[in-house]
Amino acid sequence: MTKIIKTVKEWVDFRDKESLRSRTVGLVPTMGALHSGHLSMIKKSQKENDVTVVSIFINPTQFNDKEDLNKYPRTYQQDLDLLNELKVDVLFYPEYPELYPDDFTYKIIETSFSKLLCGASRPGHFDGVLTVVMKLLNIIKPNKGYFGEKDYQQYALIDRMAKAFFLPTQIVMCPTLRDADGLALSSRNVLLSPAEREQASIFPQVLKSAKSKTDAIHDIEEAGITVDYIEEINGRRFGAVYLGKVRLIDNVKLK
Ligand code: PAJ
Repeated sequence: MTKIIKTVKEWVDFRDKESLRSRTVGLVPTMGALHSGHLSMIKKSQKENDVTVVSIFINPTQFNDKEDLNKYPRTYQQDLDLLNELKVDVLFYPEYPELYPDDFTYKIIETSFSKLLCGASRPGHFDGVLTVVMKLLNIIKPNKGYFGEKDYQQYALIDRMAKAFFLPTQIVMCPTLRDADGLALSSRNVLLSPAEREQASIFPQVLKSAKSKTDAIHDIEEAGITVDYIEEINGRRFGAVYLGKVRLIDNVKLK
């Protein structure tokens, strides 16, 4: 049975009692609504560590849009069943006051790469992400922390933060899992209508195959999808689009 831990003190006690100090710990931070992309990261952590901790916390400080936060899928029981099935050791499931005793008066702010791409469209988003991840890394103190390539900008910012602040955790990037039609798995995909879900497959296809950024924008818009941004940075093409009110992001390595 997966042990559910809700407070920092419980985790510290568990860690001491189970004498985890001599065992390696992997942390997979999530906001729940678990899908196969999350599960593949969990399996990787289980392979590489003695103990795997999955955190589920819908972090309000990274949502710049209240409606997005309210609509974010919450599937706690289903998530817990999956974690039990996978024999995950610990679910860290804190509430807001536990993680934010300061009520977000202290923040981690990155001033350069976090201002581009998603940071430009979602002001303050990465302040919330980096702050909560710093808290989770400081609480759990894992040997390795697992983050998905699907959110490459997030992964890169976290990896650089760990290096900038000399955190002892190794940040591991995990490959993007996709549906058969190429759409990257995302907790937000369940918010798409059947028609939008069908339309959405154009996005990864174009991102991968368009000859240029301009072509990509043109082809996606022609399919009736609203482009937030398509940008090419450091050999990678990044995109964010809206299908109705649902915002999807993806990125591919350019050849
Ligand atoms: P969430 O969207 O739940 O994603 C949790 C982790 O799963 C992230 O590292 C994300 O990159 C990874 N992930 C999502 N979809 C994936 C896919 N299709 N294939 C592989 N990995 C995938 O990202 C967050 O939560 C939050 O910002 C968080 C880091 C937990 C901080 O609140």
